[in-house]
Amino acid sequence: MNPVDAIAARAPGFRPRVAVVLGTGLGSFADEVEPVADIPYAELPGFPQPTVRGHAGQLRLGKVGALPVAVLRGRTHYYEFGKADGMRLPVETMAALGCETLVLTNAAGSLRMDMPPGALMGIADHINFTGVNPLFGHPNRRFVDMVDAYDPALLQQLAAAAKALGITLHTGVYIWFNGPSFETPAEIRAARTLGADAVGMSTAPETIVARHAGMKVAGVSVMTNYAAGMVPGGIGHEQTITTANSASADLSRLLRRFLEGYS
Ligand code: HPA
Repeated sequence: MNPVDAIAARAPGFRPRVAVVLGTGLGSFADEVEPVADIPYAELPGFPQPTVRGHAGQLRLGKVGALPVAVLRGRTHYYEFGKADGMRLPVETMAALGCETLVLTNAAGSLRMDMPPGALMGIADHINFTGVNPLFGHPNRRFVDMVDAYDPALLQQLAAAAKALGITLHTGVYIWFNGPSFETPAEIRAARTLGADAVGMSTAPETIVARHAGMKVAGVSVMTNYAAGMVPGGIGHEQTITTANSASADLSRLLRRFLEGYS
């Protein structure tokens, strides 16, 4: 059975309009969604089995206000299996279910002193620094336009929602590094020279796949640390999870407000 049919069997007639991918430690937004069905990825053929702590591996279908949404609690990353297209099937499944918009969230390192841990950044654009692409090897999925890949109107709506809530939403450029090691301080200096504001190991491949599938994309990064070399001391996954968990309350409020106003 393909995942679209598997989902239709669990939630007959349910047609989500927006899909949301929740990043590391950011699962709590799912609590804002009145559930219609919770489906473990294990029951969805081709969906990834999460190997990273902080990722649940479950699809929640439900409603935020009147808006039907699909929330992907957990993603797979390039560094897990060396596959850049690990999220292709889940994203394309969301498009096939009827989602016109994909909202991507992630935990990220900040390259800006004015975006401390806990700060939120709306993604205006990305830099793919990995040298790989989720569309490698797919001859009928080539030459996707990446201008305005992060929909400017959706970014404005995110900014308006943040303003109404009194939450500061920075905007900036996200740079995708492959991981799983964190970056060196020299790599971070290079990334800043290239124009990056936040660094992470996800999101960009999902945006590429979503744009190919004709979806609009919005992205929000939660800063969990200053990037390598910016402040004394090292970087660890523990800090990513704890800071993401504490910042996820702001992210949840922001997404709820944004989705309540979505039209
Ligand atoms: N680098 C890459 N990915 C990350 C970081 C970082 O500093 N923090 C959270 N995810």
